[in-house]
Amino acid sequence: MTAAVQQIARRRTFAIISHPDAGKTTLTEKLLWFGGAIQVAGEIRARKAARHATSDWMELEKQRGISVTSSVMQFPYRDCVINLLDTPGHEDFSEDTYRTLTAVDSAVMVIDSVNGVEAQTIKLLNVCRLRATPIVTFINKLDREGREPIELLDEIESVLGIQCAPMTWPIGMGKRFRGVYHLYTDTIQFFDPQAEKGTSEIIQGLDNPRLDEAIGEQADELRMDIELVRGASHTFNREAYLEGKQCPVFFGSAVNNFGVQSLLDAVVELSPAPLPRPAKSRTVEPIEPKFSGFVFKIQANMDPKHRDRIAFIRVCAGRFERGGKLKQVSTGKSLAINNAITFMAQDRNTTDEAWAGDIIGIPNHGTIHLGDTFTEGEDLQYTGIPSFAPEHFRRAQIKNPLKMKQLQKGLEQLAQEGATQLFRPTTTNELILGAVGTLQFDVVAHRLEFEYGVDVMFESCSYVTARWLRGSDADLKALADKSPANMAFDGNGDYVYLAPNRVNLQMAQERFPGIRFLETREIY
Ligand code: G4P
Repeated sequence: MTAAVQQIARRRTFAIISHPDAGKTTLTEKLLWFGGAIQVAGEIRARKAARHATSDWMELEKQRGISVTSSVMQFPYRDCVINLLDTPGHEDFSEDTYRTLTAVDSAVMVIDSVNGVEAQTIKLLNVCRLRATPIVTFINKLDREGREPIELLDEIESVLGIQCAPMTWPIGMGKRFRGVYHLYTDTIQFFDPQAEKGTSEIIQGLDNPRLDEAIGEQADELRMDIELVRGASHTFNREAYLEGKQCPVFFGSAVNNFGVQSLLDAVVELSPAPLPRPAKSRTVEPIEPKFSGFVFKIQANMDPKHRDRIAFIRVCAGRFERGGKLKQVSTGKSLAINNAITFMAQDRNTTDEAWAGDIIGIPNHGTIHLGDTFTEGEDLQYTGIPSFAPEHFRRAQIKNPLKMKQLQKGLEQLAQEGATQLFRPTTTNELILGAVGTLQFDVVAHRLEFEYGVDVMFESCSYVTARWLRGSDADLKALADKSPANMAFDGNGDYVYLAPNRVNLQMAQERFPGIRFLETREIY
């Protein structure tokens, strides 16, 4: 194997998806701790607690500087390099999460054993499904009295429509939680909340007399459970997992460190190395020698006065080297990338390079946009960065009319960054903002004030959703003539239908069967 093939085969790039409170932050921290990337568990949760302590989101904004570096957590584990991509916890920022999911090769789904499949889990899984992202499931909080494991698997299968292949099986739960049985290695890992790594004993074999000695009558219960599970559940099939049709399932308790190492081992052993990526003209293989990648996230940096922002690029092929020149395909400009941020925290020797699967951050002042592709010269355009139909709308009004230009510029830039969406009705001069979560409006108002010096007011407006329109010119014109008040352009100049209510939307769809009304749109 060449050095490049080896480097790329070592990469595992994934994100954790979950409904709030299922344990994503705790699990992230424990993964970093098991990976040796942090010395003391507690840092990340403390940061989250601090964010919660202040209901003032501006504080959250101040802390964005910290989160730039924690947006991508890279650490070596066994012979792999793990890239764990953080996603915002608050569902109001779920668009950010959706886009981050386009930059990973796999995901870990955390399910709370008490609450089972929750609303946000369903939404996020559907996003993973758009790209058939392979998913490993971690059922958390086994130290609590939760639902029966078999019931949880049934729920995942029926609600999320994905097969479950249990890899481990819990021994009891809540007060009776004693550990897990690993169905494929035939080992039992006992739960010990006092032990540093959640366990102090691992034994081999379901028939091992030590099992009876350690957990008494629960040993026979386990033997019966396992017989049942082996008969009634799916066996793990790597192909089905890689196609996103089946998820291997692990049980544990993140807060007690239990089950976390098995999960990390599964990421290394089962999850895919960087995968080929679709671009408009062709599919790009990660082992291609020339660099290419796309921007999946833009984040305002520490110093808002300088409108400083970091564009996060997923490297899809080749190798990035600091100081190299890259072409921004959308503008055709060639940029010397001297100040890129790479995320290899520990290995100082390699901080100046990144391989397919890694993420690099490029500081800029608003010249790099979401979805931009960077190459060594080829005119390539990666596809698949999604935009979602907003469900909240505001009309932007300005207190000082002389600042109209700044307002427009600010809104355009913030829209390009993905902070909010911007619509311009075809028949008026209004500026309509659309968001998936209302907190996005607060962020935009704050940033307009501090970065663009514009005091903006948001008025409510009566739209409930928007749809991107695809159809023939004649059909679109007919729709625009019929419902001029509902027609708008988005930031890219694409036609959008703004619907005041669902019935109106449905009627428009029925009246114009030749037009497709899209709820999700790819930026590229
Ligand atoms: P999130 O990022 O998905 O929102 O979840 P987070 O990790 O913040 O966890 C949510 C709550 O669940 C936290 O409790 C956390 O301690 C708890 N938790 C996580 N893993 C487990 C587990 O294995 N067992 C049990 N019993 N609880 C778990 P909290 O009360 O909100 O915070 P704290 O007081 O523990 O800091």
